[in-house]
Amino acid sequence: RRIGTAPGAGSVPERTRLPLFGHALSVPAGGFTEHTLREARALGPLFNLRFFDTDCWMVSGPELVAELCDETRFRKSVQPIAAVREFAGDGLFTAFGDEPNWRKAHNILMPAFSYNALRAYHPTMVTVARRVLDAWDRNAGTPVDVPEDMTRLTLDTIGLCGFGHDFECFERTTPHPFITAMVSALDHAQRKDTFIPGLDFLRRGAEARQRINIETMNRLADDIVRRRRAASDGGADSADDLLGLMLHAEDKDTGQPLDDMNIRYQMLTFLIAGHETTSGALSFALYYLLKNPSVLAAARAETDALWGTDPDPDPTYEDIGRLHYLRQVLNESLRLWPTAPAFAVEPLEDTVIGGRYPVHKGQPLTVLTPVLHRDPAWGDNPELFDPARFDPEQADSRPGHLYKPFGNGERSCIGRQFALHEATLMLGLIVHRYRLIDHADYELKIKETLTIKPDGFTLVPVRREESE
Ligand code: HEM
Repeated sequence: RRIGTAPGAGSVPERTRLPLFGHALSVPAGGFTEHTLREARALGPLFNLRFFDTDCWMVSGPELVAELCDETRFRKSVQPIAAVREFAGDGLFTAFGDEPNWRKAHNILMPAFSYNALRAYHPTMVTVARRVLDAWDRNAGTPVDVPEDMTRLTLDTIGLCGFGHDFECFERTTPHPFITAMVSALDHAQRKDTFIPGLDFLRRGAEARQRINIETMNRLADDIVRRRRAASDGGADSADDLLGLMLHAEDKDTGQPLDDMNIRYQMLTFLIAGHETTSGALSFALYYLLKNPSVLAAARAETDALWGTDPDPDPTYEDIGRLHYLRQVLNESLRLWPTAPAFAVEPLEDTVIGGRYPVHKGQPLTVLTPVLHRDPAWGDNPELFDPARFDPEQADSRPGHLYKPFGNGERSCIGRQFALHEATLMLGLIVHRYRLIDHADYELKIKETLTIKPDGFTLVPVRREESE
């Protein structure tokens, strides 16, 4: 059906719609990414999904994406993640483009991701990475749940580096209550698109649970702030980590600090955005290392060249920059499974995309990165895991905007370098210390709660010196 209104407009492909529902019932709960991968294969680089009375254009062709990444014509759209604003408000990730708090917080918090800041986080990142090794050594020869342990790692890391708070996730046998509340809250937010308008009373139970989850997360964030304020008042704390900047720094443009409500939103934003995606990225990378012995051997050769036979090296900040191949493994994992698997933009004015599809000012356009990252422009076999795609010569010769795991432009990921450093360090220490055994002959299954992870992925780590 025709969606555009201009004369001569191209019609955007779509499946037959159901009355009232549109395509809402055809998108499986928690299965958006795999559904859109299939649909893009059938319908092409631009197609429409209609949720009740709202058309959502799904875009994945490189030329169209390049157009959408032009920040003089498009900006981030928050509409598809609007339900997350219930708990992340006008925090960095969910702030509308014209909300003054976005620029203010961006100015205030950028220094927490500078080169010097990353160097300062490095020792803490090493300390937390060692918690993984300790836990895996303690259970030698038994299966470990990879996404669960990577989530422990990344929550402890952002907690300590960003907020001076130790979640002590490795002291617990079950996920931290913050994680349980967060996963459930994100899941609820994601399902909101499929709620039938006018029948909200059917969701009363889910809404009540959502309120409890949000309270749990707020309580934890407020508690961390309270403790830091008490420490600062007593003169015991002047940390310039993320929380220190949130509490004490002023915006260079307006001279204003963040207000208390916004601090709470930023706390939740960073606690969530700062760990979920990195944990997924590490889990996918370990999955591919497990399934590709030659890649694992090459990665291990790299760490051996750096750290020799010492099974317990003390990596320096510079060491991590030298793990070029492991970084390529991570990049390639994020190509196939970008763990924040979509982002949306909207035109600043009415315009036409692809030379024939009229779009209105403010109409959200979703970029499907897993589809973009499998475009034939990647070569003959884009489904194949091959870290050589990120050899500098290959990477430099590729068209721009073909690789977007961290989003685009001004609203792209503020934590990108933090995540890459943390993840490369962890992968390096793991491949250097263990053989990885695919004891369950694991078959990849995707779990999706706004971000994606390999579901039920376990492996058995065996110390190399015990087996070689
Ligand atoms: C934004 C991906 C790690 C904090 C984004 C966006 C993507 C992304 C795609 C843009 C979303 C959009 O346009 O709607 C990832 C991936 C990560 C990662 C794949 C790990 C591999 C992190 C970390 C932090 C972080 C470690 C914090 C320590 C944020 C924030 C934003 C953001 C605050 C919003 C930025 C803004 O709009 O100003 N991330 N991220 N992310 N990310 Fe990340």
